[in-house]
Amino acid sequence: MGKLLLVIDEGTTSTRAMVFEPSGACLGSESADLIQHYPGPGLVEHDAGEIWERSFACARTMVERCGGAQAFAAIGITNQRETVVFWDKQTGEPLAPAIVWQDRRTAALCREWRDAGEEAALHARTGLRLDPYFSGTKIAWAMRHWPQLREAGDRLAIGTVESWLVWKLTGGLHVTDATNASRTLLMGLGSGGWNDSLLDMFSAPREALPEIVDCAGRFGTTTLFGGEIPICGLAGDQQAATIGQACLSRGDTKGTFGTGAFVLTNAGTTPPTSKHRLLATVLWQLNGRRTYAIEGSVFVAGSLIQWLRDSIGLVATAPETDAIARSVPGSGGVYLVPALSGLGAPWWEPEARAALSGMTFSTTRAHIVRAALEAMAHQSHDLKTAFAADGADWSRLRIDGGMVANDWIAQDLADILGIPVDRPAFTETTALGAAMLAGIGCGIFTDLEDAAQMRGSCTSFEPQLDAATRDGRLAGWKRAVEQVLA
Ligand code: G3P
Repeated sequence: MGKLLLVIDEGTTSTRAMVFEPSGACLGSESADLIQHYPGPGLVEHDAGEIWERSFACARTMVERCGGAQAFAAIGITNQRETVVFWDKQTGEPLAPAIVWQDRRTAALCREWRDAGEEAALHARTGLRLDPYFSGTKIAWAMRHWPQLREAGDRLAIGTVESWLVWKLTGGLHVTDATNASRTLLMGLGSGGWNDSLLDMFSAPREALPEIVDCAGRFGTTTLFGGEIPICGLAGDQQAATIGQACLSRGDTKGTFGTGAFVLTNAGTTPPTSKHRLLATVLWQLNGRRTYAIEGSVFVAGSLIQWLRDSIGLVATAPETDAIARSVPGSGGVYLVPALSGLGAPWWEPEARAALSGMTFSTTRAHIVRAALEAMAHQSHDLKTAFAADGADWSRLRIDGGMVANDWIAQDLADILGIPVDRPAFTETTALGAAMLAGIGCGIFTDLEDAAQMRGSCTSFEPQLDAATRDGRLAGWKRAVEQVLA
């Protein structure tokens, strides 16, 4: 058996494969973009066949580049969470488009359930909210609207993306890990098992669902790379990033600024309850024991810059936003509330729409770009306020994700949050977390503390902004959000 760890990091806009040594050294990566299908307003779909083919192609390239299957000890898989795949157990082919986490098609259904008084009990049981974000609502919609799923009967398989990839890699193993299962609205947060009344509520046939397993272990073996490699690590991408940032003690907090922005605080081994519109979720499950997190999920972060570049044409590249933001001393009173797919935490308004406000004739392109970047820290501040109200305030924030390569954003986060912000030298913490889990599952590491030796050094950003400017910005942001919520 080799010693290398292969990670498949299947995200919303791209999928990639990365190879790690147990020391944490990354030997390289291969990635491919995924086509985003927007069949109508608020609808976001992926082609599950494409997810598999591109993920597999990236993984195969990396295995070949790093010495073949015999050089590898294990595979770790991490994935965009909540996105649901429907496939045929006999053919292994998708039966319908994958409904992506950003998809809002179930907003009306959620409203019906909320009006029927379902939300409080659901929140208590799952730690989640009645929002289109979560897989259960998408499954309920699909079972009602796509007859081929009902017609498939016993052949129907339903799973989140890691389940789909494991099925394809192993030729029919149907498992999900507890972190991904905890995002479905179908799992009891305390029990760690599928809950029959939730399965009924969301029309999810138990026999179509995967078995819930730990995040590390020997789950199955793939022979698709010209030799056997065991699959030993599984986790949703935000949980994997939290592990990759070594948030192993209660109170440790990370924020990932990728497509969306997701902040998770390690909440220990008792399921937490948020009273301030945050989520409670499984952070990891090892040896059948769960550690939990409180999560703030913001739906739009890097996707805002992508949208400014691709749909509006305001910037040519994402990296140039750093210099554009620095070219003006402030946003000139402009605010951009990026509710492009509704608002997530702490507002949970699936039908909110984005707004650009505060413009005058003196407003320039630079002010709007700056307002877009400032929205990252403003949204994060709203989360911090909710975490603090829940008794889980942050004293430092460990950041990662594509957006924080931008030094201006990292500094602005420290300034607006008023706490030090730490950015690791190696920012692919999601993949690193999956590699750590795979390393535990195959026996290279004994536990997460042991695996944390894979993590490298960090740069810290200290708050520098004066209080008056900070308070002024936050007051303006509050007014801008209120307009969107009105
Ligand atoms: O909950 C959605 C999240 O898992 C998506 O992550 O990395 O694709 O933005 P990402």
